[in-house]
Amino acid sequence: MNYRHSFHAGNFADVLKHVVLTRILMHLRAKPGPFRVIDTHAGAGLYDLAGEEAARGGEWRAGIARLLGAFSGKVEAGFPQEGARALLAPYLEAVAAFNAPGRLTAYPGSPALVRAFLRSQDRLVACELEPKAAAALARNLGTDRRSKAVAIDGWTALNAYVPPKERRGLVLIDPPFEDADDFPRLVQALEAAHRKWASGSYLLWYPVKERAEPDALARRLRRVAIPKVLRVELGIAPRSAPDAAAAERRLRACGLIVVNPPWTLADELEVLLPALATALSDDRSGTHRVDWLVGEK
Ligand SMILES: C[S@@+](CC[C@H](N)C(=O)[O-])C[C@H]1O[C@@H](n2cnc3c(N)ncnc32)[C@H](O)[C@@H]1O
Repeated sequence: MNYRHSFHAGNFADVLKHVVLTRILMHLRAKPGPFRVIDTHAGAGLYDLAGEEAARGGEWRAGIARLLGAFSGKVEAGFPQEGARALLAPYLEAVAAFNAPGRLTAYPGSPALVRAFLRSQDRLVACELEPKAAAALARNLGTDRRSKAVAIDGWTALNAYVPPKERRGLVLIDPPFEDADDFPRLVQALEAAHRKWASGSYLLWYPVKERAEPDALARRLRRVAIPKVLRVELGIAPRSAPDAAAAERRLRACGLIVVNPPWTLADELEVLLPALATALSDDRSGTHRVDWLVGEK
């Protein structure tokens, strides 16, 4: 495993994933019954943006830093919209809670964000296989009885932890995509877990480099017997960078699959995605889409 999330922490892809994650958590919290989150590829949980890897990658500057800039500045030509501002507030407040007022030096990963939204009755299981990241995750989650860090293979863990005893909850599957098998594996893992826990929600992240793999993923998902599958994609326009080769290697688009989304999510994303595409692209020319791959069957 060569992947280190610290190079990418807080980039546009993290922002999209974590904004959607936060909206799902807000919905889960709206009902009194307990929920469980299973984060199969959790990462270290908290990232130092001034640390060597995050500073070298610098991707957070075009991600969370840009979003904060856009939403803390004044409204120009109707942007940002009030609706998007209200929907983003829980995410931006959760990020701010890890930083001193007015500063941005730390970025919470998915397990730290989830933990921030747990109530006393809710639970988080966060899995991470890479030993250094797993040790950091255990440190960052600390001794909170509601959340557990496990140094384990996330694909195996998913099978072991599903179904949880709670009826409601979310599985986040966010592998590093170092290996081409992660695309088909995503669907196999989803199918197996959904067979055992059909009432849970699932959030899957994927990179968009060429169209072939994301389109094949969509075709596979349309064929499996899982209802209510929402696709969300965000593209940030290509940049004319001084180092064109580096710009070429940098991810410019990514997507999410949400299975069993909260009933309000698709409408919320219709408001949020245009705002994210504008705020996170170099020249406000970002692209997005929100569509149902499979409706209710
Ligand atoms: C994209 S990062 C996760 C980011 C995190 N979900 C977040 O949003 O903050 C993927 C993580 O999966 C870890 N990983 C890779 N293979 C794994 C496996 N088989 N099981 C669990 N974790 C794995 C990597 O070490 C890396 O930290």
